[in-house]
Amino acid sequence: MVRVTPFLLVLSLALVAHGLSDRKCMLTGRWINDLGSNMTIGDLNRKGEFAGSYHTAVTATTNEIQVSPLQGSQHRTNQKSQPTFGFTVNWKFSDSITVFTGQCFVDDDGKEVLKTMWLLRSRVDNISDDWKATRVGINIFTRLHSQKE
Ligand code: BTN
Repeated sequence: MVRVTPFLLVLSLALVAHGLSDRKCMLTGRWINDLGSNMTIGDLNRKGEFAGSYHTAVTATTNEIQVSPLQGSQHRTNQKSQPTFGFTVNWKFSDSITVFTGQCFVDDDGKEVLKTMWLLRSRVDNISDDWKATRVGINIFTRLHSQKE
């Protein structure tokens, strides 16, 4: 009995550690990023495709911000716990498009985080302005938990 106890302790620690490292990061749900923008991602279909909506907190225009649709896909290796993904936001209130690409991680505290990079393409009137039409940046998203949880 005395010898069994340390063994069980080590075994349970190993199982807990394995369980934490194996936690899945899921895209479906509501997210907020470091700019204060919110997005909602719907359920993924069998091919890993998803749709959702994006409410940006900022704009490069003087237009009034409107919630805009997004469409994307997660990489098909869905047995992997920290999947890569990409999505496009087709802005309803401007002539621009943003593409995001990133990976869904579970951080050291067990919290899900989306690390992304984006390209924002604005429309310009003349080809001579093409050089200044694309912005690039990063956004970090964390999950917005509903009141029920
Ligand atoms: C526009 O200004 O034409 C459309 C809105 C762009 C908002 C950008 S997309 C990248 C960055 N991340 C956000 O959450 N908002 C800005």
